[in-house]
Parts: sequence; C-alpha cells; structure tokens
Amino acid sequence: MDHYTNLASHYDEYYRYSDDYINYFTNKIVEDLPIKNYETIVEVGSGTGIFAKEVLNKVPSIQMICVDNSYMMLTRNKDKRIKQVCRDAVEFSKESHVYDRVYMKEFIHHIQKEDRLQLFKGLHQQLTSNGSILILLEPRRLNYPLFEEALSRFERKQPSRVEIISYLQLAGFTTSFNIISYPIILSKTKYIEMVRNRYMSVLETFTDEELENGIESIHGSQKNEELEFLEIFYSIKGIKSY
Ligand SMILES: C[S@@+](CC[C@H](N)C(=O)[O-])C[C@H]1O[C@@H](n2cnc3c(N)ncnc32)[C@H](O)[C@@H]1O
Repeated sequence: MDHYTNLASHYDEYYRYSDDYINYFTNKIVEDLPIKNYETIVEVGSGTGIFAKEVLNKVPSIQMICVDNSYMMLTRNKDKRIKQVCRDAVEFSKESHVYDRVYMKEFIHHIQKEDRLQLFKGLHQQLTSNGSILILLEPRRLNYPLFEEALSRFERKQPSRVEIISYLQLAGFTTSFNIISYPIILSKTKYIEMVRNRYMSVLETFTDEELENGIESIHGSQKNEELEFLEIFYSIKGIKSY
C-alpha cells in the first residue's frame, strides 16, 4: 500500500509536534511569502492541511487551495474553507490556474529530479505578476535520532538547496534563502512507535527485520527517555521576476 495511504490516519498525531511548532512555522510561511489579505494561496503537497488551516486562521480573508495526490491524506482535512484538489503536482502545474502565492513544505523530494524544473516553470506561469513561491526543504543530513542507514538513505534521495535554487532561477524566479529551526522534544517511546509505523517515507525501504534492528540501535544510542532534536528547514523563496 502507498506510504501516505498507510500513514494518513496517524499523520497529524506524528507530525503535529505541538501547537507552538505549527504556529512557529506557519508564521514563517505567512511572513516570508508574504501572504496578504484577500490573496489566493496554494499549498502543493498539503497532506492533511495542518499548515493550510493555520495559515487561514492567521489570514482568514484568503482563498486557500490544497493540492495533493493522496485522497486519503486530503480526506483527513475537514476544513470547509479550503478548496481541495486531488492531483499530481506536476499535472496541476500544467493546468490553467491563477493565484498569488504558492508554498510547499516537506514535499519537493517526492517529485522526480527530472520533473522539478517543469513543476517550477508551471507554477511560475500560474502565479500572478507579483507572485511568489516558498519551499521549505529539510537539509540532506537530518539530525533526527534515527538509525544511521535511514539517515544515509534519506540523504541520498533528498535534493540539495543548491539544486532547488538553480531550478527556481531557471524557471524565472529571483531567489533568496534563509534557515529556520525549531527544537522538538518528545518521548523515546513515542518516537520508536513513529519509526515502527514508518512515519517517514524513507522507512518504507526497510524490511520489518531491518527496521527492528534500526530501532535496537536507536535504543543503544539514545540513553534518555526524553529526546530533543532541532527541526531545520531551508526556506527558499522565489519572486516572479518576468
Ligand atoms: C511529508 S507530507 C507533507 C504534508 C504537509 N506539507 C505538511 O508539512 O504537513 C508530503 C505530502 O506530499 C504528497 N505528495 C507526494 N507526491 C505527490 C505528488 N506527486 N503530487 C502531489 N502531492 C504529492 C503526499 O501525499 C503527502 O501528503
């Protein structure tokens, strides 16, 4: 079964670390894009809408459109203020839509390298003349308390910020770059449950036995019951410049 079909019912429990965490990153999205009253905003790869709902709470006059190719993830979002589009992002970017801002968080690694430029070109075309895009991208080397082979596999698949910035420029955006971070604290018991339930897509690439070995090594390397790590995002902004 597809990763997000499996994960949908647990997604908010695992990824909504705290209200303050959501508030912190939503403020960054609203300020950095920036989102203004009455604009139309698209989140690509929106999942269950954790951030889209909070963006709307902060700027209620906007029209929010959530695009995701997982029906199961979208159906977890019951917010009637949001227009939901169940579509592959690259397909969406070829259609005729018009909006002011677009953002994506923890998403772009799901798009094949050879399709990323086409996606950015399509989004660029759909944006209004003063439009902007914001991409929140995890660094290749995560500092999560995961086991080494999972960290290495994530690293090999994750696009670099340099690649994303150069594709945005090729698509016609003027770019700028920032780093944002938030300290996460959670119990080891909870984190092990998340790993066992393959909360990250990279964990789908391990057999049950390999996963249990990985969990053993987390027990070995994490001595405290309370885990603390920094969630870091590269925040890459593009302004439509022609
Ligand atoms: C890690 S989740 C991020 C969800 C949300 N942005 C957040 O931060 O909570 C990635 C999302 O991208 C969606 N996704 C993956 N590939 C996609 C594609 N080709 N087109 C549209 N959505 C896609 C998945 O269904 C999933 O909901």
